[in-house]
Amino acid sequence: MDLNWIEKLLARMTLEEKLGQMTMSPAGAAATGPIRGEATTESVRAGKVGSLLNLWGREATDRFQKLAVEETRLGIPLFFGVDVLHGHRTVFPIPLAEASVFDPDLWERTARAAAREAAADGVDLTFAPMLDTTRDPRWGRMAEGFGEDPLVGARFAAAKVRGFQGGDLASPGALAATAKHFCCGGAALAGREYAAADMSERTLHETYLPPFRAAVEAGCAAIMSAFNSLGGVPMTAHVPLLRSYLRGKLGFDGVIMSDYAAIEELIDHGVAADRAEAAGLALKAGVDIDMVSGVYLAALPEALSRGLAELKDIDAAVRRILTLKMKLGLFDDPYRRTKGARSASRAAKKLALDVARRAITLLANDGILPLGENIRRIAVVGPLAEAREEMVGPWTLAGDPRQCATILDGLRAALPEREIHCQLGVTIAGDDESGIAAARALCQNADAAILCLGEAANMSGEAASRARPELPGRQRQLAEAVLSSGRPVVALLSSGRPLIVPFLAERARALVATWFLGAGAGEAIAEVLTGRFDPTGRLPVTWPLDVGQIPVFFAERPAARPANPTDPFTSKYIDLPNEPLFPFGHGLSYAQVKLDNLRLAHAEFRRGDRIRVAIDAQNLSDRPAFETIFLFSRDCVATAAPPVLELKNWAKVKLAARQKRTVRFALAAEDLSCLDADLRPMLEPGDFDIFVGLNADRRFLLSAPLRCLD
Ligand code: GLC
Repeated sequence: MDLNWIEKLLARMTLEEKLGQMTMSPAGAAATGPIRGEATTESVRAGKVGSLLNLWGREATDRFQKLAVEETRLGIPLFFGVDVLHGHRTVFPIPLAEASVFDPDLWERTARAAAREAAADGVDLTFAPMLDTTRDPRWGRMAEGFGEDPLVGARFAAAKVRGFQGGDLASPGALAATAKHFCCGGAALAGREYAAADMSERTLHETYLPPFRAAVEAGCAAIMSAFNSLGGVPMTAHVPLLRSYLRGKLGFDGVIMSDYAAIEELIDHGVAADRAEAAGLALKAGVDIDMVSGVYLAALPEALSRGLAELKDIDAAVRRILTLKMKLGLFDDPYRRTKGARSASRAAKKLALDVARRAITLLANDGILPLGENIRRIAVVGPLAEAREEMVGPWTLAGDPRQCATILDGLRAALPEREIHCQLGVTIAGDDESGIAAARALCQNADAAILCLGEAANMSGEAASRARPELPGRQRQLAEAVLSSGRPVVALLSSGRPLIVPFLAERARALVATWFLGAGAGEAIAEVLTGRFDPTGRLPVTWPLDVGQIPVFFAERPAARPANPTDPFTSKYIDLPNEPLFPFGHGLSYAQVKLDNLRLAHAEFRRGDRIRVAIDAQNLSDRPAFETIFLFSRDCVATAAPPVLELKNWAKVKLAARQKRTVRFALAAEDLSCLDADLRPMLEPGDFDIFVGLNADRRFLLSAPLRCLD
């Protein structure tokens, strides 16, 4: 089985069979978009379908595969694609939560575990990793990705591709990875889902493309084009970025698929008058697979006859699809994945708990946490206290929520000797306040209150933009009542995005981002609240103080007049501070680490040199510390206005109680390159600043000057 064999097969195919291979049809196990025509035994038997989405389970996939292999003229096997974003049967924390762990090895391991489970269910390809750089928490899909920084995105991309695909795509436990959504959905106008994006070429190349470049360099098998337009060109028809950049500059030779019905939506974008034009535009741009819309099958013949499409492009698309199926081993054995041993779910559940406890991000704490022995009566209040279904997050298809312990379950299991009572008070999004009084009364009789607030799982993810990403429903009223009880309050936020909650940061004794943690939710949260596990999550996104600050992120370009509180004519608001509520990288632990003595091996460097940075980290507490230390740089003078801060690396550091040690970083000179006027990497002689710290708040970073001589 080789490319020559593919060519011979291609030569035998009719036009309809070719268009069938280019058609991906939904198979009904889960709806991830507007319901359109589903795959049927007739359509598969007639060779009108090349792949199915949203179907899993050994029997179901084998049944469709048998139809394709035994009852079609050429017996070309199907492949099955599913959104395995953060686990399959075993649900891991949502990707945004996982990103807060800042651990590529862990990111790879969860993808590997998910791949094993999904492959055993007959899945060949996942529509993941989601690699949209996102700096706008109004956009619900922030939950699905790695956050705001392209370096984090690039490392996340490579780790996930390695994890999903393993070393051999034909392995029964491997999934083809699909880097999505190419590109810039995270920059949708006003954070509104599916809305247009518009930005400079420079920002596109500095911020939004690097994760996809990393995915291609890691060998991702497929890429999904995004719904949105960029600069007026829908991504599904974006010739410069799909053909010239992905296939030309990056040399990507895998499959490009549209997003759900996106080819037909070129008509809604106003660039195609009918389905034939839409089909022609997408094909010309290099989209190989039509997900759901059926436009390739129905309208490419007309597009050919109207000169809107060329047969050579159809052949090229089919060649790539057949090559993917060959790499997946489907021609050798179409049932190879379902024969695999059932997944090792025990190991997956253990991993899910490990990721969950490490993803929890302690945002504020006056010392009330970890809960002391003196806290005997605990009031657990709020609609997320028993919200098992929400814990799986917005993009879980095969994962059964019953695997998730609730926050209340977790606390009761961890503290059997304490008196723990629960009052939900309000629902997540309802307007009924009648339960608030009872909740407040419960708190008044308690030693402390655990306030479980946040979003429903469906309030983030796709088609879940929120213009006001605050506490939904009457949760604010509940929180105010609980805070006014006078008892110590620990507030937990289960959400798919940062929520605008300055009043909680100010008045709760502790504030914890628990995201949506999946199978390990209740247990992990209890372990952190009781101090059995020290919180180590660090924010992968900037947390706004107010929706009016959005988009707010650390790597902004300098203002003409940088903010100066004493000078009115500088870049600031007159009604808000510029600073976010919490900066990128923020997160507290129960141990406290102090950084000092930043030093560079050399104050000057040349092209090709290694830049060696060292800093001393000291654990000031009597308990072990596990800290994340960030390395930033600033190019003081560059061809284009450089960001005020750029992330260049991070290190995870373990320190025993009271231990002090030196932490070292090594940068390549080229890591300090910028993009020249033609957007090519260029190392410019001149001055830089190197910064090291525990987050991106420039007021607290240690810095050292560095000069590039040539
Ligand atoms: C959805 C999403 C995409 C997903 C696809 C298949 O509309 O945009 O992320 O992979 O359809 O479910």
